[in-house]
Amino acid sequence: MSLVIIRKSAPAEIWIQALAERAPELIVHVWPETGPVDEVEYVLSWAADPGVIAGFPNLKAIFSLGAGVDHVLSDATVPSDLPVIRMIDESLTRRMVQYVVHAVLSRHRRVEEMRANQAQGLWKRPAFPDLRVGIMGLGEIGRACAQQCLALGYQVSGWSRRGEPLAGVEVHGGEQGLPMFLSRSDVLVCLLPQTRETAGILSRDTLGQLPKGAYLVNAGRGEHLVDDDLLALIAEGHLSGAMLDAFRKEPLPSDNPFWTAPGVTVTPHIAGWTEPSTAARHVVEAIAALRAGQQPRGVVHRARGY
Ligand code: GLV
Repeated sequence: MSLVIIRKSAPAEIWIQALAERAPELIVHVWPETGPVDEVEYVLSWAADPGVIAGFPNLKAIFSLGAGVDHVLSDATVPSDLPVIRMIDESLTRRMVQYVVHAVLSRHRRVEEMRANQAQGLWKRPAFPDLRVGIMGLGEIGRACAQQCLALGYQVSGWSRRGEPLAGVEVHGGEQGLPMFLSRSDVLVCLLPQTRETAGILSRDTLGQLPKGAYLVNAGRGEHLVDDDLLALIAEGHLSGAMLDAFRKEPLPSDNPFWTAPGVTVTPHIAGWTEPSTAARHVVEAIAALRAGQQPRGVVHRARGY
């Protein structure tokens, strides 16, 4: 039984060590090294080139190195019957929560405006009206963000496909719940998975339903956002700005208007990252569950796409 780590950046040594500590019997290779391909039962992958995963004939499961699995599901050569398992990692979740809380707080407490005032030596004390936070996507990370925003005293609503209840949060579900949800979101936080249904969901149509002066935080995927619609709504004064961590093209090209758009903060896809020392536990537990014929945590519903 072996596992191949496939990733394009950053060395894999920490992963090898973290896996060895928890599953010394697991033989780990780092792509393009594979050992005998027919012995490879698992891949732990981020953005493998199309066709690479399909090249292992005896795979039992595909692990994503991140929470998102769009990079696996977009590869049409990946066998449709193989379990695809998203990363569930307490460190990744915690970091995403930190990013979202920071975005909400800095918008609420008008940090950018304070900096601009400081640059002019201005002692100006603006009002800080209460903000309602709306979280799109109530998976592992969305729920954790909602709870933390609640703990900070924000009124929080959430939106998900099924609208399953979440304590303290006003949850809206499906297409019919979207208008009400949007109308109550002064800060809209997108944490949706990338699927056919969610592509382009942040458009003039939806963002235009946010209250005037609303702020967007996109820590989902660049494909969720119709870039020009956001820029136009900011220019028209309907939205006050955005904090964006994911883009249609990464790295963000130097001539992209987001770099200089007023009120827009660009971060280079750093909202969260997986920590091998904690994430290895999820991988090893999932392998044990699979070997015992049980359903591991994080298995993706292939038809839904998350
Ligand atoms: C990052 O984008 C992830 O999916 O974890």
